[in-house]
Amino acid sequence: MRFTEIKRKKSLNSKISNTYGLDPDKLPVHIAIIMDGNGRWAKKKLLNRIKGHEKGADTVRMVVRTCREIGISVLTLYAFSTENWERPKTEVAALMMLLKKFLISEKKEMTDNNIRLNVIGQKKRLPADVQEEIQRAMNATCVNDGMLLNLALSYGSRAEILRAVRRIAADVKDGLQDIGHISEDNFASHLYTAGMPDPELLIRTSGEMRISNFLLWQIAYSEIHITQTLWPDFTKEELIRILNDFQSRERRFGRVLEE
Ligand code: IPE
Ligand code: IPE
Ligand code: MG
Repeated sequence: MRFTEIKRKKSLNSKISNTYGLDPDKLPVHIAIIMDGNGRWAKKKLLNRIKGHEKGADTVRMVVRTCREIGISVLTLYAFSTENWERPKTEVAALMMLLKKFLISEKKEMTDNNIRLNVIGQKKRLPADVQEEIQRAMNATCVNDGMLLNLALSYGSRAEILRAVRRIAADVKDGLQDIGHISEDNFASHLYTAGMPDPELLIRTSGEMRISNFLLWQIAYSEIHITQTLWPDFTKEELIRILNDFQSRERRFGRVLEE
């Protein structure tokens, strides 16, 4: 199943949006999150960084559940970047183990809640056992259409853009694509996010004012929300507050809005 036809979803319970003071018609269809601050959370508590990642996994579960509950169609979580491979071997290994555990433990939750799992990034660089669990979870959830959960794993936006350029160049070389007809839509169809709407909202936790090689093409017009909260401390209440703030923003897309 391709990712076309991704539209605004209804919340699981029509009263939910009201309870949270949200306008269901103005919810973002796609939310992307840079989940940052696990290490600092652990350091503050004099714990090993790995403990921060473990606690961070609980926040992932909460955020997935909440987004599904209120009717978000696509949730993209930055879990591991191409640059993160440069971290100490022990930390990388711990992150891969946690990821595998997450994929196994959440398969049922995703199936029960009609969530489809997808991975964006260089899947082939991941350890073989993690790749296997990804495939299992993706197969088990491939017909679900309640929400699409994109995990960005070994993801880097520059690598993604280069991959698209290579694919288009190959099509041109093979006579399948005319240079004059390379459009923005056509280019986007060669990205990992092909067929998905761009995120309207990008959240980054733990205060860094940077994008760290995440979805450079796709966030051209996203609203950005940076919170000081460290990812393991991020709560449902804060997510709802951010969505309320998003709904109060005026998105102009370079235009002048009518008086
Ligand atoms: C985010 O937390 C998780 C990953 C990047 C895998 P960090 O591990 O980057 O935490 P800080 O930024 O060091 O606090
Ligand atoms: C971005 O966080 C990557 C993920 C959240 C997976 P980093 O902690 O790796 O980014 P920098 O080092 O602050 O730019
Ligand atoms: Mg970080």
